[in-house]
Amino acid sequence: MATERGAWGSRAGFILAAAGSAVGLGNIWGFPTQVGQGGGAAFVLVYLLCVAFICAPIMIAEFAIGRRAQKDPISAFEVIRPATAWWLTGLLGVLAGVGILSFYSVIAGWTIAYIWFTATGAVSGSQEAIGGFFSSFVSNVPLTTGLTFGVLAITAAIIMGGVRSGIERATKIMMPLLLLLLMLLAVRAATLPGAEAGLAYYVRPDMSRIWDIRVFNAALGQAFFSLSLGMGAMITYGSYLSRREGIAAAAIWIVLLDTSVALLAGLIIFPAGFSIPGFDPSTGGPGLIFTVLPRLFATLPGGHLFGAAFFILLTMAALTSTISLLEVPVAHLIDGHGWTRRTAVLAVTGTTALLAIPSALGNGAVPFFTSLPGIGMGFLDLMATIWNNFALPVGGFLIAIFVGWVWRVDEALAELRAEHAWFPAPGLWGALIRYVCPAAILLIIFFTIRAVAGI
Ligand code: PHE
Repeated sequence: MATERGAWGSRAGFILAAAGSAVGLGNIWGFPTQVGQGGGAAFVLVYLLCVAFICAPIMIAEFAIGRRAQKDPISAFEVIRPATAWWLTGLLGVLAGVGILSFYSVIAGWTIAYIWFTATGAVSGSQEAIGGFFSSFVSNVPLTTGLTFGVLAITAAIIMGGVRSGIERATKIMMPLLLLLLMLLAVRAATLPGAEAGLAYYVRPDMSRIWDIRVFNAALGQAFFSLSLGMGAMITYGSYLSRREGIAAAAIWIVLLDTSVALLAGLIIFPAGFSIPGFDPSTGGPGLIFTVLPRLFATLPGGHLFGAAFFILLTMAALTSTISLLEVPVAHLIDGHGWTRRTAVLAVTGTTALLAIPSALGNGAVPFFTSLPGIGMGFLDLMATIWNNFALPVGGFLIAIFVGWVWRVDEALAELRAEHAWFPAPGLWGALIRYVCPAAILLIIFFTIRAVAGI
């Protein structure tokens, strides 16, 4: 490759890399945590609606922008609509990349530690013991910040290698193994005593929760986060795609895969959780999977091995996501400012590491960051709320308006159907991107702000 830009080695490589970006902590850590806080199946239902009618069309739109422009998200808007303010949408994405990576790397650090803890049997015993172990681990500042920096360093090292050799290779091996292990664990969880209560909680919606706008906001944010949308990650990945490849089919595969992994994670956590006496899914917080899963592993023959394998795969899934988060700002510094890949990676990683410190400190270690005064949540939660629940949907809203009304649907469709690519229901996609996506996002954000502000 003559330039610092890269390109995918194959169509499968692209799908795997984009699926690798989508599948990560958002599915296995984030989704069950949000289901627990959002009241179970009601959240799941709203989540699926958001994925189908808001997020899937936006994923197609992001790929179309990226492939047309062959540029990072900021430059892409400049290429398609020069001399307008649309590049600011890309800027929001670049900032979101750094913001999300700053807390994501903290959780990814926890998963690395749990490889060791489960393999050695350090985390075991009663539910209280397992919970206590988690709390004292996350308030161990040198350990958790060290792990966070470790995650960032590994991500930076992979990204230095460029798009093809770094990203594609890692995902090809990991994804099938992860799916297989998840299915195994779901079968085991379903056969535990008390599992039915967990299943009911997960599949039978409590209709009274459906009308809580905050459930909608959380589900929308979670859907954007899980599918890596609204911040240009998919614009960036689309920009490495050749015009010979069909976008719609790839997007459908990625959405289906990402959603299945999230649903499977819930099928593991809730039956396993409810098999523990006195389990309350809403109080698990960010530690939910770290306190429920070790119990599940303990019920398996060779549980240490299963547990370690699980956390290894989860760490790899997290890394294929951190790679895409870091790649967005890095691509911008390369495409937009002519930096070398190496300098860009070092600068962005350093900035993110600084921003990650308060998230790493705010889990019991430093009271100020654990519960921010006047805000009622910790720094990590605040970051997740700002970026996932607001920045990503706003980014998605702007992308939908841009494609639907500025670049226009027929131009976008020409890109999507280049070289006779398969594209089902273009009229439906056009209507979703022009009307449904922007209106739904706007309404959800508006009513959430109203509810939170108590107006
Ligand atoms: N989708 C990733 C996950 O579910 C997180 C992510 C968000 C990655 C936004 C890139 C962009 O873990």
